[in-house]
Formats: sequence, C-alpha cells, structure tokens
Amino acid sequence: MNALAPSPIEQHKRRAGEAAAMLVETGMAVGLGTGSTVRYAIEAIGRRIAEGAIDGVVGVATSVATERLAAACGVPLTTLADRPALDLCVDGADEVAPNLDLVKGLGAALLREKIVAAAARRRVIVVDAGKLVDRLGTRAPLPIAVVPFAWQVHLDPLRALGGEPVLRRDAAGRAVVSDDGLYLVDCRFPAGIARPEALEAALRARAGVVATGLFLGMTEAVYVAGPHGVEVRERPGP
Ligand code: 5RP
Repeated sequence: MNALAPSPIEQHKRRAGEAAAMLVETGMAVGLGTGSTVRYAIEAIGRRIAEGAIDGVVGVATSVATERLAAACGVPLTTLADRPALDLCVDGADEVAPNLDLVKGLGAALLREKIVAAAARRRVIVVDAGKLVDRLGTRAPLPIAVVPFAWQVHLDPLRALGGEPVLRRDAAGRAVVSDDGLYLVDCRFPAGIARPEALEAALRARAGVVATGLFLGMTEAVYVAGPHGVEVRERPGP
C-alpha cells in the first residue's frame, strides 16, 4: 500500500463530508461543525463557492478552529446574532445511535455545536461507519462541559450515576479549556447509557454543568460513509 495514500477511514470521512456539502444551496446560512470529518464538508463548500456553483452562502462556525478553516477555504462567516435562523447545520459526531441520537464533544466544541445545531432547521451529521453504535456510551466517553470553579464536585455524582469521570488534560497534564473557557469531564459508562434523556436531565440539573455531549432528537439525517459508499439515514417523521 502507498504510505502516502489516505487510510480507508480518512477516505470515508472525505466522502461523507463531500456528499453533505452538496446540500448547500445559494443563499443558505449554514452551521459549520468542528472536527476531522466535517472539515471535508467545509473544504468542499469553499470549492463550490470558488467555482461559482453556489453564492451568497454564509457560515456560522462552532469553534475558533472552524472559524480559521472556513476563512482559509473562502467560506464567508456570520454570527447567530445576524442570522439567528440557519437553513442547515453540518457537523460530525463521536457516536450515532440507531435513532440518530448522538454523543459529541471529543473535539471540545460541544457547547457551541449545540447552540448552532439548535438554531438550524435541518441538522446533518457526517461520520464514517465506525461511529455507529447500538447504544450510546459504548464507544466513546460522554464529554461534559463544566465551569472550572469546583469542577471536582461533579465527580462523585457522576460515579453514582454509573460513570467513570476523568478531567480532560493535554499532553502536558494541564486541563483542556474550551473556546468558552470551560473544562471537559469525559465520563465513560462501562455498560453504555441506558436512559440518555434521564441522564441528560440529571446532569443539566447540576449547577456548574453547562452542556453535555448528548445530542438527543437534534439530527434530521446522518451521512454514513463505509466501504460501499455513502448511506443516508433519515430520522423517521413524527
Ligand atoms: C467536536 C465534535 C466532533 O464533531 C466529533 O468529535 C467528531 O469529530 P471527528 O469527525 O474528528 O471524529 O463533537 O466537539
């Protein structure tokens, strides 16, 4: 195999991202997620703008990293203050359940991602097939964004809920700080998350918890790329 050739997973991420970029139409305001899969979508949106295939498109970035990427790709940016209703949001995920509920946040952008997703009429997630799970929590820890003050107070309650919480640290051992100045507690659930809605309610009831990586009922479609191409999974209608 050519050592410089992208890995199969990288090719799948690219295919999922590029397929979702084709959803962007002239004049749309689009939420731009964060991560290595949605990166391909943002690059492809930039190429479509440069080619003149679409125009008048504006993006709302979910992180400083995505702001920089969008600027480098020629995707004009706006804010939710100026465009509070988005036509579309494209983002990645760390886990996708059969009902399209998600775990997100390993890229530390979950709070802005949730705010931007909540503003969008249609939310599309791009993943490689390795992100599909039967039950949330079985592949990835659940990231929880907390204010730095007294972050330790969340650990015992998380253990009581069946979790194994760890403060996210960088290679030098310092706490990772999000774009909004928050810490991330990554909480493994060895048996997976049996009742995501109940867990979300319990966590959000705690003073100091700002957001969790549970995105429940916030996805209209998932573009899943694997060896056989890109499959689109739509949330069943009401
Ligand atoms: C960032 C996220 C990302 O969307 C998620 O981590 C997936 O990233 P990648 O496509 O790099 O696997 O939630 O906060």
